[in-house]
Amino acid sequence: MDRGFLFGDGVYEVFPTYNNNIFGLDAHLNRLQEGLDAIKIKNPHSKNEWINLIEKILSFNSVSADQAIYLQVSRGCDQNRKHTHGDLKPTVYIQASTMPLRIKEELLKGKTAISRDDIRWSQCNTKATSLLANTMYAQEAKVENAEEAILCKDGIVTEGASSNVFIVKNNLISTHPKGPKILPGITRDAVISCAKRLNLEVQEITFDKDALMNADEVWITSSTREILPITLIDNKKIGTGNAGPLWSLIYDSFQDSKNAKRSVSGRRLKKIESIIQN
Ligand code: PDD
Repeated sequence: MDRGFLFGDGVYEVFPTYNNNIFGLDAHLNRLQEGLDAIKIKNPHSKNEWINLIEKILSFNSVSADQAIYLQVSRGCDQNRKHTHGDLKPTVYIQASTMPLRIKEELLKGKTAISRDDIRWSQCNTKATSLLANTMYAQEAKVENAEEAILCKDGIVTEGASSNVFIVKNNLISTHPKGPKILPGITRDAVISCAKRLNLEVQEITFDKDALMNADEVWITSSTREILPITLIDNKKIGTGNAGPLWSLIYDSFQDSKNAKRSVSGRRLKKIESIIQN
């Protein structure tokens, strides 16, 4: 009778962890809070409690592999299946799985995407567990051997089925502005920070499908895929047909910021050491 199962009535987060350090921990927990507020579920845990739960899950697995933590909060179980609900106790589900990332040499060839009309609801900034349209798009991409489905609403490129989208034209980087039409990706923010650090010009602005198809570079970003260059969309070559120079710069900068964060997490390292010793 869980409303997460019956109605997809819940929100979720996916935290990437590198060598047991959670990347963008605060940003993910803040977005979880925003999602819970948006659908009026009381957050069942404080930030510290969430961190302890995630660290506990991480400690069960191998300490060296990069892992993705999937965390879901549903509204909880009810007496019967009614669309409306009373005051319920939220259900928390957490899992860790290994997160195999592709090496740069492999990515340089680029990945393919398909485009689709974005028929999703107008609250895409809420990371809701009800992902029917997204999973249908992702499956269509898979059937066509593509990495992602890039979505367009009223001619405007919004995001991918499970990623944010960036384009580069004449060294100017663009991505859809935050708002109800896209999920405010944590990787998206990290990529914007990397671009700024590199003194690259980046604008959060809408662009249409023509701009996508005629871009010099297209990238998709997500917690589990980092930054992938897309070099073929609907069988049309993007730019040179290989990953572009700005992608390469941002990719390296992102890897550096990951490693910098990794080295500062002394608290986590101590914990791992004690787990190994015991
Ligand atoms: N999805 N847009 C959508 C629709 C997404 O589902 C995701 C991530 C993103 C990127 O957000 P972030 O950079 O915070 O991961 C954008 C996750 C990975 C998932 O559903 O598994």
